[in-house]
Amino acid sequence: MLKLAVLVSGGGTNLQAIMDSIEDGRITNARIEVVISNNKNAYALERGKSAGIESVCISPKDYSSREEFNLAFLEKLDSYQVDLVVLAGFLVVIPAMMIEKYKNRMINIHPSLIPSFCGKGYYGLKVHEAALEKGVKVTGATVHFVDEGTDTGPIILQQPVAVKQGDTPEALQRRVMEQAEWKILPEAINLIANGKVFLEDGHVILQA
Ligand code: GRF
Repeated sequence: MLKLAVLVSGGGTNLQAIMDSIEDGRITNARIEVVISNNKNAYALERGKSAGIESVCISPKDYSSREEFNLAFLEKLDSYQVDLVVLAGFLVVIPAMMIEKYKNRMINIHPSLIPSFCGKGYYGLKVHEAALEKGVKVTGATVHFVDEGTDTGPIILQQPVAVKQGDTPEALQRRVMEQAEWKILPEAINLIANGKVFLEDGHVILQA
């Protein structure tokens, strides 16, 4: 049984997709041990609580320095002894020591086809604003392992989504969530939970 920690900062629709997928069997051999947010008002915490999952807030605001927060954050996460950390719209910079400790055991969902529209400053609506500004006809989402860079780790799954004439950033964000994020994040977790994901020379190999 793969034990998960899901890290969130906002509405939690990706968390909901994971919970629903565990519920309906699209994800097997996995269980969410804890939902952790840096934002005490994150609706994602409500979603976790409603599902009877331990849902906690650990905020940088409650610590006198970033170093202190980083240590407390790592200690909190370690206390749950999870196998996989899932960043589902988590907007806090992951401490380097946490990335090291959870190397190849931490994944992230990004709302574009990496390497487009990713890296520092590309998060939330900004990603879709950039895609519309560039005039791309196809965008999408990516699930990748987290490494020391920003959105630079080995890619696990991607899903393309069509950009439509007249799309607003909000409409495009919603379509990318519905048609890509909420599908490939649960799918990636299921593949990992069932031993189908391998890393070779920094590239992901998926076993059929
Ligand atoms: C999603 O668009 C995700 O791609 C990005 O942050 C957003 C989180 O949304 N990383 P939610 O909290 O899962 O609804």
